[in-house]
Amino acid sequence: MEKNCEGILSSIVTDDVIQGSKVLNSGGLVAFPTETVYGLGADAANPEAVSRIFKAKGRPADHPLIVHISQVKDIDLWAVDVPKEAWRLAERFWPGPFTLILKRHSSVHNLITGGQDTVGLRVPAHPMALDLLQQFGRGIAAPSANRFGRVSPTEAAHVVEDLGGEIDLILDGGPCDIGVESTIMDFTSSKPVVLRPGWITKEALEEVLDSSISLRQGGAVRCPGQDLAHYSPRARVIVATSVEDLRAKVDEHFSSGARVAVMSSDLLENLPQEVMRVPFPKKLPEMARELYRSFRLADRLRADVVIAVCPATSGWGLTIADRLQRAAQGGLPLH
Ligand code: TXA
Ligand code: MG
Repeated sequence: MEKNCEGILSSIVTDDVIQGSKVLNSGGLVAFPTETVYGLGADAANPEAVSRIFKAKGRPADHPLIVHISQVKDIDLWAVDVPKEAWRLAERFWPGPFTLILKRHSSVHNLITGGQDTVGLRVPAHPMALDLLQQFGRGIAAPSANRFGRVSPTEAAHVVEDLGGEIDLILDGGPCDIGVESTIMDFTSSKPVVLRPGWITKEALEEVLDSSISLRQGGAVRCPGQDLAHYSPRARVIVATSVEDLRAKVDEHFSSGARVAVMSSDLLENLPQEVMRVPFPKKLPEMARELYRSFRLADRLRADVVIAVCPATSGWGLTIADRLQRAAQGGLPLH
């Protein structure tokens, strides 16, 4: 059955959390807001429901899902042998944009863990997500609510665009405050390691643990956010090292006939008139919040390439740089 966007909007987009909880209880898929990005949720204890997530996203079955829980002490329901450092970080950063990878409890379904002996856990901070978790009363398995490898949704309308026909209900909690996915920290290797940078920075984690932490550079744990081609718009993303480099790259692609967009807050005078502008804030927290919206705008403008300057890679800058670099590996031609 074909549904147009407005039809989908009026029939499945709501702010009724109780309805969301009922849909989850009956094995349905519910997209919901978190402070990072929208998640595509299913009852983590219902394998049929969880398998629908993989189908809707087109996600390979061996890629594990984060289980969202409502309180720190629920860690014990999902994980075993939890190190005291992990408890400390959970107490400090939950509810919040932080995911722990821990040794799984034997009751956790293989579909969630992608067949690994670990499980990802997070208590989100968005009030609607917490309300849904409390109403539902159990864990909700949820990846970002986008097609596999594509840009994560930061508004309910993005979920409608990407997956509207595949989902039973979309809870609309407004635009996400943070705009990029949670920091993921793995406690199952010999040393704790950050698998995915995010709002909670390496520096903030080190301060709580009072020891240095490494960032993952490749390794054995399967983590699709770590695949090179990820978080991509259709336009090819090109990362410039400076404004001068951006100008050179614009000239290069424009002269070869491409539809070029620049993601920048600078005025950038004297660019060819045809070069399209995608607003992109200068300050880091805003940059994160707007990053995926800017990618989507470049696609709406039917840009072949979108060029952005990479920020310095410390603190929050590392997260933006990480997502830009990964998107740059994965762009597909538009036509
Ligand atoms: O901010 C977020 O984390 C959002 C919101 C919805 O919570 N979720 C999210 O989920 O980004 P997803 O599936 O799009 O990305 C989660 C990442 C994936 O790269 C996944 O492989 C990794 O977490 N992950 C989940 N469980 C894991 C595990 N047991 N071991 C290693 N990586 C895991
Ligand atoms: Mg994702």
